[in-house]
Amino acid sequence: MQNRRNFIKQSSLATAAVLTSSSLYAFRGSPNEKVVVGAMGTNSRGLAVARMFAKLPNVEVGFVCDVDSKVVEKTVFEIEKLTGKKPKGYTDIRIMLEEKDMDALMIATPDHWHAPASLLAVKAGKHVFVEKPCSHNPKEGEILVEAAQKYNKLIQMGSQRRSFPKVIQAVNELKEGIIGNVYFAKGWYANNRKPIGNGKTILPPAHLNFDLWQGPAPRRPYKDNLVHYNWHWFWNWGTGEALNNGTHELDVMRWGMGVDYPTKVTSIGGRFAYTDDWQTPDTQTISFEFPNKKAMLWEGRSCNGFPVEGQSRGVIFYGEKGTLSIPGGDDYKVYDLGNKLIKDVKTELQSATQTNTMGMGELLDIIILDNFIESIRGKSKLTAPIIEGHKSTLLPQLGNISYRVGRTLNCDAKNGHIIKDKEAMKLWQREYEKGWEMKI
Ligand SMILES: NC(=O)c1ccc[n+]([C@@H]2O[C@H](COP(=O)([O-])OP(=O)(O)OC[C@H]3O[C@@H](n4cnc5c(N)ncnc54)[C@H](O)[C@@H]3O)[C@@H](O)[C@H]2O)c1
Repeated sequence: MQNRRNFIKQSSLATAAVLTSSSLYAFRGSPNEKVVVGAMGTNSRGLAVARMFAKLPNVEVGFVCDVDSKVVEKTVFEIEKLTGKKPKGYTDIRIMLEEKDMDALMIATPDHWHAPASLLAVKAGKHVFVEKPCSHNPKEGEILVEAAQKYNKLIQMGSQRRSFPKVIQAVNELKEGIIGNVYFAKGWYANNRKPIGNGKTILPPAHLNFDLWQGPAPRRPYKDNLVHYNWHWFWNWGTGEALNNGTHELDVMRWGMGVDYPTKVTSIGGRFAYTDDWQTPDTQTISFEFPNKKAMLWEGRSCNGFPVEGQSRGVIFYGEKGTLSIPGGDDYKVYDLGNKLIKDVKTELQSATQTNTMGMGELLDIIILDNFIESIRGKSKLTAPIIEGHKSTLLPQLGNISYRVGRTLNCDAKNGHIIKDKEAMKLWQREYEKGWEMKI
């Protein structure tokens, strides 16, 4: 594995490469001050991210919160093993947020908690690193954009590709015109997920506070095929593959094409591969039209992992002079209009732990965390601030709304709002469990 000091230096350089202006935010503390992070939701992704934060210089993971007490125990043990210092464990985020010494909250809970927890955190004076998708529905994303300004706190969404050095280089090349005007982009994600069966209603395990796990979401009975992970495929808590994985590729496509909000969105698909409790589509396409003759297409296959262009996920940009492909990681290829390969750029950061569900592996995924911490210190500017996170999350959200109402949506290019379709616009927000409404 690469020497840590060199890596940190390299990652800070990568972060620095995208800085174009000084920070817009007011920051607490001096540049080299220790930053203390609290971790919320640490079963899988959250544990990986907490461990990465703990490896950054002068960063302490001082607090850990999970509604599953076994997960708290495991995380406290892992962080202590890694750093020699035991973090304080919590099971209720509202109490953990009272900790005065916590500078930032990292959120890797199920999706229905992302925006409500982010709002609680900025109101408590903490900066926020929230895993993608930043919200469960579009209204929540708008609230977070407003809340970051109102409470003068940083909110970064975990779209780690915004900090991958070669992906940054590829996007810069697109902007400089390497394939001319880019008018179309295609992204995809393919996996071989197994069926989840038909769950039995049972009592939740004693170590899980299922009431707090549901938190802002209207109450549903506990089933034995829901926690952990499978909530992704239920609308009450999850957002389907389109937001689970599509958010990453749609973010890169939107960034590379330099577009904001679409004017037209159409989605088709369904739970085709198996018959079980899974509610969101396992097979889906979403197409988007943007102003100035630009379009995008995303294809998701949760239960047939046949690759596109040899890769299980990726993005291709099509332009008037050629094609640029970014096959999911930190590398890219450029072709001319005759399909001749004219550039082949490979990452210099080989990943130590490549996995499909945990992100791209530490050496790449840690860069966005470094960028977040350096932004808190006032030495960097966020690569994935909440406004960009919201715009990118909105794309698959609109896709899911189109899929659910069964028709094309016309949208306002200024803010993505759905035009003249009250039924579709109803899905712009959600219903909350009484007492859990998001109040900015
Ligand atoms: N950026 C990436 O590459 C990437 C990769 C994987 C997952 N993710 C995101 O990370 C999130 C978590 O995914 P996962 O696979 O780890 O899910 P998971 O279900 O395995 O873990 C979620 C954890 O959150 C806990 N939790 C639920 N409500 C809580 C609350 N109120 N307070 C504290 N803890 C709470 C659960 O008990 C569980 O331990 C998802 O939103 C997912 O989209 C991002």
